[in-house]
Amino acid sequence: MHPSGYDRLQSQVIPGYGSLARLAVALLSSSPAAQVSGSSILVAGCGTGAELLEAIAQRPDWNLTALDPSEEMLTASRQRLGEAPSISWHQATVEGFVAGGEAAGGYAGALSVLVLQSLPDDGSKLAYLSALAKCLQPGAQLVLVDLMRSSLTSLEPQLDAAWDRFQRASGLDVTRELLPSEGLHPIGLARLTSLVNAAGFGDPARVFQALGFEGFLLQRQG
Ligand SMILES: C[S@@+](CC[C@H](N)C(=O)[O-])C[C@H]1O[C@@H](n2cnc3c(N)ncnc32)[C@H](O)[C@@H]1O
Repeated sequence: MHPSGYDRLQSQVIPGYGSLARLAVALLSSSPAAQVSGSSILVAGCGTGAELLEAIAQRPDWNLTALDPSEEMLTASRQRLGEAPSISWHQATVEGFVAGGEAAGGYAGALSVLVLQSLPDDGSKLAYLSALAKCLQPGAQLVLVDLMRSSLTSLEPQLDAAWDRFQRASGLDVTRELLPSEGLHPIGLARLTSLVNAAGFGDPARVFQALGFEGFLLQRQG
């Protein structure tokens, strides 16, 4: 997705997008490991910088590592954040960052907002989650926000219709704009649990939900 217009489109499509980054940072900031002043925090798939802006506002003491494989997104994010000295920027996937030997399991927390959903469940989701786990200290938490597949299949038509209405009511012209939901690979809670366990995390604890968008706290196992 091109960064121009990204934030406006996301808030028209994703219920609660305007407070998503604030909430994700507040949750991670309250975790035992990341409460410590000067903690190193990984922002995976930083996109146009929503989580980084919030992290700097809420926790100016954190040392942030921002990763995104997209040059356009990283450039947009850097322009938005300016020369923030507490951010180290990397044009990389989390998997590539770990394979390059730059992450040594020293991170006290990580944020992954709307990233896993774009990876197919063909080994790519597991590789991404395993790389995130390798970055984290034992006991450190990951805040994971993603589009999920509903476990209540009988409710799916109603939820889909409500999402469509939400987007139209938010001013989205669904006949003209390319929906960010296209090309996504949402999974259900059972599959997510099995993937995060295999990657080295405990069971996901759901901390919020708006239609299909769900937020989880995951703890890196020791
Ligand atoms: C939908 S955007 C979300 C951006 C931001 N987190 C937000 O919520 O606004 C997903 C971002 O993840 C990045 N991405 C995709 N695969 C990734 C991977 N394996 N590791 C890190 N980032 C990835 C994409 O380039 C894109 O910028």
